[in-house]
Amino acid sequence: MQDIIRQLEERREAARLGGGQKRIDSQHAKGKLTARERLDVLLDDGSFEEWDMFVEHRSTDFGMENQTVPGDGVVTGHGTINGRLVFVYSQDFTVFGGSLSEAHAEKIGKVMDQAMKVGAPVIGLNDSGGARIQEGVASLGGYADIFQRNVLASGVIPQISVIMGPCAGGAVYSPAMTDFIFMVEDSSYMFVTGPDVVKTVTHEEVTAEELGGARTHNSKSGVADGSFENDIETLAAMREFFDFLPANNRELPPVMENTDAPDREELSLDTLVPDDPNKPYDIKELIDKVVDHGEFFELQKDYAGNIVIGFARMEGSTVGIVANQPMVLAGCLDIQSSIKAARFVRFCDCFNIPVITFVDVPGFLPGTSQEFGGIIKHGAKLLYAYAEATIPKVTVITRKAYGGAYDVMASKHLRGDVNYAWPNAEIAVMGSKGAVEIIFRQDIGDAEKIEARTAEYQEKFANPFKAAQRGFIDEVIRPHSTRRRICKSLAMLRNKDLTNPWRKHGNLPL
Ligand code: HXC
Repeated sequence: MQDIIRQLEERREAARLGGGQKRIDSQHAKGKLTARERLDVLLDDGSFEEWDMFVEHRSTDFGMENQTVPGDGVVTGHGTINGRLVFVYSQDFTVFGGSLSEAHAEKIGKVMDQAMKVGAPVIGLNDSGGARIQEGVASLGGYADIFQRNVLASGVIPQISVIMGPCAGGAVYSPAMTDFIFMVEDSSYMFVTGPDVVKTVTHEEVTAEELGGARTHNSKSGVADGSFENDIETLAAMREFFDFLPANNRELPPVMENTDAPDREELSLDTLVPDDPNKPYDIKELIDKVVDHGEFFELQKDYAGNIVIGFARMEGSTVGIVANQPMVLAGCLDIQSSIKAARFVRFCDCFNIPVITFVDVPGFLPGTSQEFGGIIKHGAKLLYAYAEATIPKVTVITRKAYGGAYDVMASKHLRGDVNYAWPNAEIAVMGSKGAVEIIFRQDIGDAEKIEARTAEYQEKFANPFKAAQRGFIDEVIRPHSTRRRICKSLAMLRNKDLTNPWRKHGNLPL
């Protein structure tokens, strides 16, 4: 028995070495941790239970029968993050460049299946050269098996992808179908076709970093939700992020201890909005002052800055925040911001996370590039997302709520549960100047008349009371009481029970 146990330990030791010390050193030299070291940082100490440590590939082509490494390039299993169960896979670049063989894919599929059975999130740490070239179609089949699982798990358990090295070719589509993608700066990249293919086909010269690095996907493409400086910072942020999420679609997110009084007043909010309606202010100041302890985990912060999204807590419970940002494009809705917010609202709706919407929106961004780009369909995504959502929805109009954008931004008409407006809010079809230029076109040459008409329109419509008269606004509130009002509303909504009519699935305007 002693012998057998010693052999087991030796086998384990060999498996833990992955592709060997030389390749581990090379991974470290690139500033990257190994697959196992990453799990050590991500998971609670001693919580990791590894599965399939001895799985090997079955390939016999190109001399592969003589090149097997136990574990086959991916470390899988389960553990806990701050005490809560999570399933993980971590690709090991030291073994065949973390490339995905049929057996490697089966290991990932196994943890995903188990995560679905027990209702726990999956976090994938991606660091891979893509399909195992020696295996051909078997590897492609392995990818497709993962894609299928990603889709079936979507909306059932949260799925998070962390890109910590290469992720290229069709391999990108597994992360793309998970809920969130985070990247490590300067050491990760994602693209469907790499720089060499791009050069051959389009004659563009571009580096891997420019084409698909963390900066590109966080600011240009909107593919990623956030990035961090190095492996350790990224994994530490994932631990923080994980705490916002429920285990699955039948549970609520964990309630954290909270010492921030729900009735805390913020007098500075009474002067947050400038008197001049065309002057911007930072909506993040409002978010910080309203949520528990000013802690806001912003997502996609360098992309479509005209809308702000992210998670925070109110009285210890997770909330999703969506807010127009007057500092960028005056807070207009455009294609990118509509898609950004729509996907976020849908995530919150899948996973029972209430959404708080702060509205200061002058409308949809005009222009040919928006129209030619399909703002009609893309703007409709956000409208659709809010309208189908059955989670608690609390809305605060801080200033402008004009036109179609008023309807879209979690209005009463889209089953907003509690809709507040600050006293300076302007809820109208459009701004006074634009309105007068249309309905009093005949007076345009007469500056005095136009001024009088504008003042009249302003007086009549540039306030929240017309909407309040109709019950579209539940209450006009003083800005300093915003936190208290929202906390009370969320408490009232705790047992909200609303279901949409049965259907196979809706037809979101894609
Ligand atoms: C098998 C691979 C591999 C792969 C890397 N390796 N990629 N082995 N299949 N896909 C091996 C290398 O042979 C090498 O082995 C080790 O991993 C490290 O690779 P290096 O090239 O030395 O590392 P580096 O210089 O850092 O370059 C990393 C890389 C490069 C950029 C990822 O390896 C690369 O371009 N690989 C091929 C990428 C690719 O074309 N994959 C297929 C994409 S298509 P040794 O023994 O020397 O350590 C795809 C389709 C998916 O994935 C479709 C899904 C539907």
